[in-house]
Amino acid sequence: MNTGMNLRKIEKPFAFIIFGASGDLAQLKIFPSIYSLAEQKRLPKEYIIIGFARSHFEESAFRELFAQSVRKHFKEGTNEAVLEEIVSHVTYISGQYGDSVAYERLKTVIIKHDHHKQWQKVIYLAIPPTVFDTVAANVAVIREKNEEIKIIIEKPLGVDSTSARHLFHQISLHFNEAEIYLLDHYLGKEAIQSILSLRYANRMLNHMLTGSEIANIQITAFENIGVGKRLGYFDEVGIIRDMIQSHLLQVLALVTMSIPVKESALSFQREKNNVLASLHFADKIRNPLCIGQYASYRQEAEQVKNSTTETFAAMTLFIDQVHWYNVPIFIRTGKKMAKKRTEVVIEFKKLPFQKADLPPNRLILNIQPHEQIEIQLLNKVGGTHTAYRTLTTSDSLACFGDDCLPEHARLLMDVIQGRKMFFLSFQEVLACWDLIDEVIAYKNAKPSALITYPDGAAEISEANELPETFGFNWYAHAG
Ligand code: BG6
Repeated sequence: MNTGMNLRKIEKPFAFIIFGASGDLAQLKIFPSIYSLAEQKRLPKEYIIIGFARSHFEESAFRELFAQSVRKHFKEGTNEAVLEEIVSHVTYISGQYGDSVAYERLKTVIIKHDHHKQWQKVIYLAIPPTVFDTVAANVAVIREKNEEIKIIIEKPLGVDSTSARHLFHQISLHFNEAEIYLLDHYLGKEAIQSILSLRYANRMLNHMLTGSEIANIQITAFENIGVGKRLGYFDEVGIIRDMIQSHLLQVLALVTMSIPVKESALSFQREKNNVLASLHFADKIRNPLCIGQYASYRQEAEQVKNSTTETFAAMTLFIDQVHWYNVPIFIRTGKKMAKKRTEVVIEFKKLPFQKADLPPNRLILNIQPHEQIEIQLLNKVGGTHTAYRTLTTSDSLACFGDDCLPEHARLLMDVIQGRKMFFLSFQEVLACWDLIDEVIAYKNAKPSALITYPDGAAEISEANELPETFGFNWYAHAG
């Protein structure tokens, strides 16, 4: 349990401006994150939170919306005194995203608090990508010379490599890359950040995380929920773009990259990119892709009644590097599955003369719902020399006590403190899109491949062929 002595805190005053402040992302993730930071006493005395959106709200109504989102998130655990204090720092500006007068109002509000124009400004674009450019251009106009400013953009970062390139080009007209924080909330998860800590702390483990020792890598991300309110967005993109393009490829990069000596954002991004840019979709093998749609998907709304959008996908990848040569990587993700389960399973090679029916050694990183690392070794059954059982050692990857912060809160604090280790570079995002573009082109060429699976399926048997092609199976947890 952390005693609070090492708690990271934000010392300097800041203005946090949320564009799209009346939307879902703000209410579900951003407002509760600000509350968590305040509740853990990590915020400075002076700060202002400014919501900006098209909907009309009086300041008091917006403060109420903020408070209600926090109460909805933390339920009876909400500390009303803390909430009341934060809400006194909250204000709202309603305006069209292209209306320069609204931005002048924004500037006036900022200056009212930041008399000496020394606070850093943190801008969150919780808006559709179609208006990123307009907002960035208008913010650039009201920006003071030499003002410290940071801009956060969360996925979707485009829908393919062309649109992502365009997006980065547009934003770069107004901000330099150092000021832009590309956020993938998976990198804010404690268990995912732990991958790096484990690799830095354990030489033995690190030596094992190489293609010469690994038989295959399996990444699974199942959710029990369906698409819900995000149907409009989801139906346009599908699960390959929604889950694999950033979240799961980032996890893969953290596991397989070479860890840099210097722990800096640039060195992490460089090494991750080295893997991501070497990824190769196994399109030359038989069936490198399996796609499915849950049975009730087309009944969710009239607009999707003929949809062929995939809600499940499994694919086989390789890393085109000499030390990862021929090590297959299987990634699968699906909505409306039986249980939420996010995990990385690394199966190690066996000795060449080892009996075929013995299971391999495994390293398992359970990310959700239980954050845990497991190492599976084989141990002989006492008294015999021929029978073995799997010995599992495990430990928690969860955080405890004061250290715990929700993903967005942790990442928001990183932005304010200028820590970019857990943010993406343009290059990485583009490398992922290059791969995903290939996968999507392959998928589009085989429209009949879409299978329908029952809501609440535990597994999708059609996806078994991917590992089976190489003589492996998806790892099934005991029990
Ligand atoms: C989002 C996707 O980025 O991640 C959603 O758009 C998905 O479709 C979500 O449900 C999953 O996040 P988590 O943290 O619940 O695993």
